[in-house]
Amino acid sequence: MSRVIVSCPLPGDALDRLSREHDVSVLAEPGALPAPRLHEAMRGADALLSMLTDVIPREAIAQASGRLRVIANCAVGYDNIDVAAAREHGIIVCNTPNVLTDATADFTWALLLAAARRVAEADRLVREGRFAGWRLDLLLGRPVCGQTLGIVGLGRIGAAVARRAKGFGMSVLYWQRQRAARELEAESGARHVERDELWSASDFVSLHVPLGPETHHLVDARALGLMKPTAILVNTSRGPVVDEAALAEALATGRLAGAGLDVFEREPRVDERLLALENVVLAPHVASATEATRALMARSVAEDILRVLRGEPPLHRVA
Ligand code: DGY
Repeated sequence: MSRVIVSCPLPGDALDRLSREHDVSVLAEPGALPAPRLHEAMRGADALLSMLTDVIPREAIAQASGRLRVIANCAVGYDNIDVAAAREHGIIVCNTPNVLTDATADFTWALLLAAARRVAEADRLVREGRFAGWRLDLLLGRPVCGQTLGIVGLGRIGAAVARRAKGFGMSVLYWQRQRAARELEAESGARHVERDELWSASDFVSLHVPLGPETHHLVDARALGLMKPTAILVNTSRGPVVDEAALAEALATGRLAGAGLDVFEREPRVDERLLALENVVLAPHVASATEATRALMARSVAEDILRVLRGEPPLHRVA
């Protein structure tokens, strides 16, 4: 029996599955685990099931090495883990691709539509008793149907967002460093363009890249300056992919029409200026948050831990 630590309670049957074979400890309530406590617990564990809020740096990995065999992160992103350090110490890192693709793509569209058609503003107006009757000029938004959508990163989620754009009769452009396979381009209906063309030609820009040194502040003041003043930016990837201060400035000055953000540069902190703006829809990092998806994510990491502890290769080892 191996020792498995789980950073917070899990939905679905994931904990039962783990507990049937191993000695499992759940460390804290969701979002309440201090890093030193996690790092100390890692030192006596064979496996860690972590959340994206658990920061797992090189030193913590080095101290846990020798016993720790696998870190399975209950998220598709794994920028919270020093993967290079894990590799050096022979610790396997797993994530949860596939199971959250549709939920995240759906929510990307929820933000896109909400920002374009001012849904959050409309809700506030009604709740606050400011609805004084129909008006020809009330809360005019931006069209979606027939517009151009620019996707940064045509991976699983980016491609799922592109497919949904067909229903809105949109032209879809995409940029990523390495052009996608021709089959994926054809099937998703996305056309590869250079990065600056994506910024300048899109009515909507949606971000679907992992966070790393090459994508940190990918959307900076320069990129925002190239976008149409009527454009809307949607971010369901990671906050630091966007220079939040530059975005707040662009939205406040009317340089950019709007934004839909599920992620922030310094979560859970949100730039005060963004909070004060009407032309941005804000969500608390919930793009994959459906009951079914979260249960599948938990099951995916639990299954990979079980596989590694049985000496089998995990299904979702990060590159
Ligand atoms: C992820 O999986 O990386 C999302 O940000 C949360 O589901």
